[in-house]
Amino acid sequence: MTDPNTASLYARHIEVLQARARIALERGGFEHLVVPSGNPHYQVFDDRDYPYAVNPQFKAWVPLTRNPGSWLVVTPGRRPKLIYLQPRDYWHVVPEAPVGWWVEHFDVAVVRTAEEAIPHLPPAARCAILGEPQGVRAEYAPNNPAAVVAYLEYHRAFKTPYEIAMMREASRIGAHAHRAAEAAFRHGLSEFDIHLAYCAAARQDANDLPYGNIVALNEHGAVLHYTQLDREAPAASRSFLIDAGASYAGYACDITRTYSARDDDFQAMVDAVDAAQQRMCAQVRSGVDYRRIHLDAHLALAGILRDHGVLKVSAEAAVESGVSSTFFPHGVGHGIGLQVHDVAGFAAADAGTATLAKPDGHPYLRLTRTIAPGMVVTIEPGIYFIDMLLDDLRAGPNAASVDWARVAAFRPYGGIRIEDDVVCTESEPLNLTREAFARP
Ligand code: GLY
Ligand code: MN
Repeated sequence: MTDPNTASLYARHIEVLQARARIALERGGFEHLVVPSGNPHYQVFDDRDYPYAVNPQFKAWVPLTRNPGSWLVVTPGRRPKLIYLQPRDYWHVVPEAPVGWWVEHFDVAVVRTAEEAIPHLPPAARCAILGEPQGVRAEYAPNNPAAVVAYLEYHRAFKTPYEIAMMREASRIGAHAHRAAEAAFRHGLSEFDIHLAYCAAARQDANDLPYGNIVALNEHGAVLHYTQLDREAPAASRSFLIDAGASYAGYACDITRTYSARDDDFQAMVDAVDAAQQRMCAQVRSGVDYRRIHLDAHLALAGILRDHGVLKVSAEAAVESGVSSTFFPHGVGHGIGLQVHDVAGFAAADAGTATLAKPDGHPYLRLTRTIAPGMVVTIEPGIYFIDMLLDDLRAGPNAASVDWARVAAFRPYGGIRIEDDVVCTESEPLNLTREAFARP
């Protein structure tokens, strides 16, 4: 991260955040934006804490993800101030003194205790304080004013070039680790060992990864958020679905790939989903309603099911009757950035009062906004053979839409999901994931 280009992108990023903060404060009637980095939480009846997760509003400004107890103060017209906790502590690793290309953009005050930070904060009554209450002195308990939060979250969908650069790096790490995981699958390793191969290649573990790795062999691919990680390898590894990301400077990537062990009908279906997914990625263009991509995905996936003999009715009929939702029961994707499921997916405007509805019958869609340049979205269609949903379909009026012998043939493979992270630009979409896999 010593790249001079990163430094200049970051300078521009801070200007954008300053401009957003000024308007957000005006909207809420406050003078200062105050953002605690957050503190660890104790587990119930225990003296161990949960893994620390930095306040996303804090890491939006500074590439610091392991600095509990620090604060950021933003006052329009002034340099932002970073109150940086570097405790005297011989139990834990103490954060290094702040160094790097980002430091020059802040007035930095290093403090040794949480209490010492307080005199550096402006009078609380004039502050929009964004965060969670743990470990914060009473008068600085976050008030999270709705108008301020809504404005910042709405605009966070539009990534700065600096943020795209960080997500590109996260994608590079993720693609590299995905290759290691595929090799581990082809060597017949267990889910747990594939997971370890992934973490080793990414040089990241549970505390760094943006979400728990989904590493699913065979039927486990039908569990949408399968995080069990069997320690024993199955007798035969037929198929492999891996949904695993990586982080860089606080930004996430979110990548899913599916493989068959052999060149069989399941691999043919994977290839068809992959081709359809790339057509969906091509829809990530300015002015396109994300709901349109989701609904079009249903038609495309139903067409694949028909082509592979699973559906006996037309794709249109399967979508119309809701049968497509048995096989594709989640949304086509979501916004991504500082959080793997980025915020404000339903916001109609930056005032935060109105939301954009999900299409009827599609309760799990996480993004309903119209795509615009700077937005980064995932595109993650899937086809699954989920017993619970198949049982309902078989017991209902649309059972005859399906060739149940074909379902039985595909069921041992679990499911398919292909997921990329795609940037909307002024012209062609930029697929960060495909770009990362294309690198040697
Ligand atoms: N990668 C997991 C999800 O998007 O839900
Ligand atoms: Mn995702």
